[in-house]
Amino acid sequence: MRRRVAVVSGGGTGIGAAIAGALVGDGYDVLIVGRRSEVLEATAQRSGVEWGRSGAVRPVTADLTDPEQVGRVVDALAGRKVDVLVNNAGGRRGGGTGTLADVAAYWRANLDANLLTAVLLTEALLPHLCRPGGRVILVSSVAAQRGGGGAYSAAKAALHGWAYDLAVELGPDEVTVNVVSPGYVADTEFSGERTTPEERARQVAGTLLGRVGTPEDVAAAVRYLASPAAAYVTGQVLGVNGGSVFGR
Ligand SMILES: NC(=O)c1ccc[n+]([C@@H]2O[C@H](COP(=O)([O-])OP(=O)(O)OC[C@H]3O[C@@H](n4cnc5c(N)ncnc54)[C@H](OP(=O)(O)O)[C@@H]3O)[C@@H](O)[C@H]2O)c1
Repeated sequence: MRRRVAVVSGGGTGIGAAIAGALVGDGYDVLIVGRRSEVLEATAQRSGVEWGRSGAVRPVTADLTDPEQVGRVVDALAGRKVDVLVNNAGGRRGGGTGTLADVAAYWRANLDANLLTAVLLTEALLPHLCRPGGRVILVSSVAAQRGGGGAYSAAKAALHGWAYDLAVELGPDEVTVNVVSPGYVADTEFSGERTTPEERARQVAGTLLGRVGTPEDVAAAVRYLASPAAAYVTGQVLGVNGGSVFGR
């Protein structure tokens, strides 16, 4: 039987690494994509050992804001079809004050990191998606729904609008497109960099469940959307936020 293939952008760290691990556990071969090869190599090796499937996770080093580098993911597929594409790469880029040129750089950096990475990778992989049955999953943020992140919020919110159009485009081929929108997820490079103990406590207090989210919480939602159980779910935003924002 053909082994299923998943592509996870930002799969070398944090939420993406947890998603890649969950999909390996479900029997997928997984390509993880990021800019730092040593980080990707270490995660690929760790995941293979953990699941007793060495070689199941393969690193692809590419800056997904660069159209030329995105082609490396297609090359790494070596003709195989993609069952599941998870656009998880992103994060908050700082700046935003100063000259208009500074403002432009801040907005471009956030749109590039969170929107363009997903758009370019998806466009490159569209011809290689399994039809029927393929899955496209976008990792957004609660910041898209409640604000608070400036250009980051706007870039993540743009993923939602684009996901709806993509769901319309791919629906007739029985390919689903959904967004997973995490709340605060502790212990990733992204959250670790910017979180003081006070901020962490504030985030916990904002949930109904009284704890931070984990990368595994988000991976479980992605795993569901990738599964046959979610075959009739498309064009949806699934919040994984401990109740910090109600569904919308
Ligand atoms: N942690 C949270 O609280 C939280 C909450 C809501 C949403 N999110 C979202 O969840 C996703 C994963 O975040 P995380 O918390 O797991 O943080 P993270 O560990 O910093 O993960 C971000 C990943 O994206 C990759 N990446 C960034 N820019 C890239 C580019 N231009 N090309 C290729 N890869 C790129 C990074 O790898 P390289 O640096 O090696 O490229 C890294 O592996 C992000 O989209 C983030 O916005 C996180």
